[in-house]
Amino acid sequence: PQNLTALIEQCVREIPDYPKPGVMFKDITPLLADPKAFAAVVEAVAGAYEPSAVDYVIGLEARGFILAAPVALELAAGFVPIRKAGKLPARTFRESYDLEYGTATIEMHTDAIAPGSRVLIVDDVLATGGTGRAAVELVRRAGGTVVGFSVLMELAFLKGREKLSDVELRTLTTV
Ligand code: PRP
Ligand code: MG
Repeated sequence: PQNLTALIEQCVREIPDYPKPGVMFKDITPLLADPKAFAAVVEAVAGAYEPSAVDYVIGLEARGFILAAPVALELAAGFVPIRKAGKLPARTFRESYDLEYGTATIEMHTDAIAPGSRVLIVDDVLATGGTGRAAVELVRRAGGTVVGFSVLMELAFLKGREKLSDVELRTLTTV
């Protein structure tokens, strides 16, 4: 809805040249600190799915965790973390993706979801789509089905959507 878009635009702060020159960082901390805005966003993400159609909500470390956990509770689904390399204690699947310089690796416990599980992936921002693509691969390697991929904000000029053309992508705002 229009008022949700306006709310997000009001509450997400733009920090120029962070973490490096030329990047306009989208800082969601003011939104998280506003209980009405935070609740509206969680409601808008969760409300698009039937609770009976989602077994797990997966959050992508770190900012995705903050949104995914309340969405999981709202949908009466389990919460599962996908973490940056080296943080999960048990056996994991690993996927790497390209950054501007070098690569990044994320992991999920091999036994985090049962084969056949229906999974909703939640993150704050979709930029190049590298993180999201790797997350989808992790879920599929574990035998799960990605029933949705939901983000607060899509940076359309980075074309991350093209890397996620095989999943149902929902974005609350596009900039
Ligand atoms: C940011 C953001 C997304 C990702 C999007 O996370 O929270 O997860 O980048 O970028 P992409 O679409 O180009 O992959 P970041 O890796 O900066 O870490 P954080 O969530 O731990 O702050
Ligand atoms: Mg992130």
